[in-house]
Amino acid sequence: MGYVWDTRRDSSQAAELYANECAYCHGNALEGQHGWRLAVFDSRTAAPPLDGTGHTSHHSDHMLLRTMRRAARPGFGHAGPSLQGEYSEKEFRELLEWIKSHWSERERRYQRDLNTWLSDEPGPR
Ligand code: HEC
Repeated sequence: MGYVWDTRRDSSQAAELYANECAYCHGNALEGQHGWRLAVFDSRTAAPPLDGTGHTSHHSDHMLLRTMRRAARPGFGHAGPSLQGEYSEKEFRELLEWIKSHWSERERRYQRDLNTWLSDEPGPR
């Protein structure tokens, strides 16, 4: 079924960053943690998949990058560590592109359109 990414065989910087900082929660194949769907109303208990089978493509680049950089504040926000300042903007963007490379064409197109739509002039919603 789904394509399983082998992070150990991908030597790109983004894959390395992912393996070091994200895989222990989001999984080696970006599959997320068991029970993430049940954790929807307390999402900080289980990491969702980033491989395109969850809801990651329903968020804009802006929001995803913000999530990736920030740690939680009490009650909300990203359960991951605060990485703001640890990596450059370029590294975060490459990591996001690498994550998206695991998505189906359909997910990628949807999210690309979402980004365009959000950056458009204000219009009917
Ligand atoms: C300590 C565990 C943990 C680590 C480490 C972690 N995350 Fe997360 N992540 C979560 C959890 C739990 C959520 C769900 C809710 C929340 O906290 O925002 C999440 C949510 C996300 C989301 C939103 C996904 C969606 O579908 O809405 C993105 C994107 C994300 N993480 C990327 C990353 C990246 C990239 C890294 C590494 C740089 C990382 N995370 C490290 C636990 C973690």
